[in-house]
Amino acid sequence: MGRTTVRVGVVGASGYGGTELLRLLEAHPVMTATVIAARSRAGEPVRSVAPNLRTDALLEDVDPVALGALDVVFLATPHEASLELAPDLVDRGVPVIDLSGAFRLSAADHAEWYGGVHPAPELAADGGRAAVYGLTEWSRAELPGAHLVANPGCYPTATVLALAPLAGLIEAGSVVVDAKSGTSGAGRSTADALSASTVLGDLVAYGAPRHRHTREIETAIAGASGIDIGAIGFTPHLVPMSRGLLSTCSARVRDGVGPDDLRAALVDRYAHEGFVDVLPAGEFPRTKALAGSNGCRIGLLHDPRAGRVVVTGAIDNLGKGAAGQAIQNANVLLGLDEGAGLTAIGMHP
Ligand SMILES: NC(=O)c1ccc[n+]([C@@H]2O[C@H](COP(=O)([O-])OP(=O)(O)OC[C@H]3O[C@@H](n4cnc5c(N)ncnc54)[C@H](OP(=O)(O)O)[C@@H]3O)[C@@H](O)[C@H]2O)c1
Repeated sequence: MGRTTVRVGVVGASGYGGTELLRLLEAHPVMTATVIAARSRAGEPVRSVAPNLRTDALLEDVDPVALGALDVVFLATPHEASLELAPDLVDRGVPVIDLSGAFRLSAADHAEWYGGVHPAPELAADGGRAAVYGLTEWSRAELPGAHLVANPGCYPTATVLALAPLAGLIEAGSVVVDAKSGTSGAGRSTADALSASTVLGDLVAYGAPRHRHTREIETAIAGASGIDIGAIGFTPHLVPMSRGLLSTCSARVRDGVGPDDLRAALVDRYAHEGFVDVLPAGEFPRTKALAGSNGCRIGLLHDPRAGRVVVTGAIDNLGKGAAGQAIQNANVLLGLDEGAGLTAIGMHP
């Protein structure tokens, strides 16, 4: 692609996903954040919500006309706002990468898991103009020229990357996912349940058994692998750290499947992927090593005594779980180098 500048809009720029997009865009070789929009924080300096950024820009009001004239728009907004904004922007002809859950499920699943009738069913996963489900490693071929990308949720990203290559080797109905996220996964919030005094020194499960990502994980694994792994048991936990997400998935192994089959399925699938690493036997991924990066690391063990496989995926929830993957998807959609702007590696210590 011959463009020297790609003009980008970020809506929801005052939120955690939005500020992470702005951070990554500052280092992107061709993308420029041209419209930086928020809702209640419009008018404030970007630095008031993102003190790490070097900019004097102000947050703007959301203006669909200005957004419609750009090369790509990221919606880092709650799903209700994305449902309102995305159809209009798509009609204006600007490609949209939506970080919310608004377009990840079929209209019927959306009604069941998010509540209410889907207002734009043609853009839902089973619609005539369905959004592309943007788990990049599994949907790369569908992304170029897409009108709308449903960027995956953070838990589904780590979980589906870890489990999808194993779908044919495990027993349907046996998958249990125990996942943990840092507090930024819940977005910028003043809620007491997310305050430092409440969260620090504590660990708690939430959302089970009807967390919205449950159905997304099931349908995304079926979409990626072509195999229905049945209903999963999914329990997320809130961990007292800012960033990072770890998904530990366990399933019964099918008769005749051994440790070498399991490892080969993962290693072969991701051998040529730039952002997904399968760790050597005996190693499990750590979240901090991925902080600020677009990486995903996967560890695998076979437990012959229990007849189960345990596979653990780790990501930065704001990186590969949100803004990083959104930029990866936009790069592919626009015909740019897939890794452009995503060269940061994680941190230690
Ligand atoms: N946090 C994560 O790790 C993560 C990971 C994957 C996906 N996601 C998804 O990404 C989206 C953003 O998440 P977040 O964590 O960044 O949330 P957040 O920190 O709460 O930020 C939400 C943003 O949306 C804006 N907004 C709210 N209602 C709006 C409306 N009606 N019109 C325009 N803008 C509106 C807010 O603006 P004001 O503050 O100015 O009102 C704010 O900038 C959500 O759908 C979330 O589910 C988040």
